[in-house]
Amino acid sequence: MLQTLVELERRREAARMGGGPARIEAQHKKGRLTARERLDILLDPGSFEELDMYVEHNCVEFGMEATKIPGDGVVTGSGTINGRLVYVFSQDFTVFGGSLSERHAQKICKIMDNAMKVGAPVIGLNDSGGARIQEGVASLGGYAEVFQRNVLASGVIPQISLIMGPCAGGAVYSPAMTDFIFMVKDSSYMFVTGPDVVKTVTNEVVTQDELGGAITHTTKSGVADLACEDDVDALLRTRAFFDFLPLNNRVGVPYRPSSDDPERLEMSLDTLVPASAAKPYDMHELIRKVADEGEFFEIQPAHAANIIVGFARVEGRTVSLHVCGR
Ligand code: HXC
Repeated sequence: MLQTLVELERRREAARMGGGPARIEAQHKKGRLTARERLDILLDPGSFEELDMYVEHNCVEFGMEATKIPGDGVVTGSGTINGRLVYVFSQDFTVFGGSLSERHAQKICKIMDNAMKVGAPVIGLNDSGGARIQEGVASLGGYAEVFQRNVLASGVIPQISLIMGPCAGGAVYSPAMTDFIFMVKDSSYMFVTGPDVVKTVTNEVVTQDELGGAITHTTKSGVADLACEDDVDALLRTRAFFDFLPLNNRVGVPYRPSSDDPERLEMSLDTLVPASAAKPYDMHELIRKVADEGEFFEIQPAHAANIIVGFARVEGRTVSLHVCGR
């Protein structure tokens, strides 16, 4: 019995350490947090219930049988954000570059299935080089399972993706199918394939940032909804954003009491919008004056700037707002 407990503790420690101190330090040096540090910020303290902590890959090619790390590059489970249930996965770049093996995919699929069963959102913290090259088609099959669940969950539970590192291939195809995508400036990338392959195939020279950085995807392509300053900013903004969303398609939007009087008169609205269509005005001010406590969570602020979109609350309930320029 004692031996079993010792072995359990050894595996637990190995899972917590991921790819080891040197790789964790390298991750920190790039200004990025580890998979577990990110979950500590995203979720309410002490709420995280981890699943499948000891799962290892089953690959025996290319000497992989000698390099097994409990958890296999992704931390999965459930927790709460301001008391509301959420399922999460957080990819660990220190373990095979966060790449997706068959077992890694099974862990993600399990939390997606659980989330759909109980009607709770899924938040994915993506930091992955895509399909685990050593596993070949088994890894691609894993992606097929994840994509299928992205489709089944669409319109049933909210799916949010945070892109928090260099993500390639399947590691961006799946987030692209989710409802909202937040990126981190100068540190996260979404590519179908990287600059080296682009150069080889098309002879075009392009930087990582130009090809798939946060600014490119929040200004030009519109693939991502927010460019955050750093990991902490992205995680805290996700917490704030989560509060606006319903847990699933069968419950209403959440209610948050407001100190604003619902009967209040905002006299400045009479004059804020000029009579002449040729005169500009501050559309954000209009939104702030209508929303509870002036709080507005804008998405895609830098893309297609002639329309403002986002979420606010009116009489305590979430509303989605869009205000078009004229
Ligand atoms: C296995 C991988 C990996 C992968 C990275 N690593 N990606 N291992 N499979 N896909 C490993 C590296 O070998 C390295 O291990 C460690 O992770 C860190 O990677 P670096 O290259 O040192 O990091 P960095 O310079 O930051 O570059 C990150 C990167 C690059 C841009 C993601 O690693 C990269 O281009 N990786 C391959 C991307 C790719 O082609 N993925 C497959 C996509 S195809 P060591 O031990 O050396 O430190 C796909 C198909 C989906 O996903 C189709 C679905 C149907």
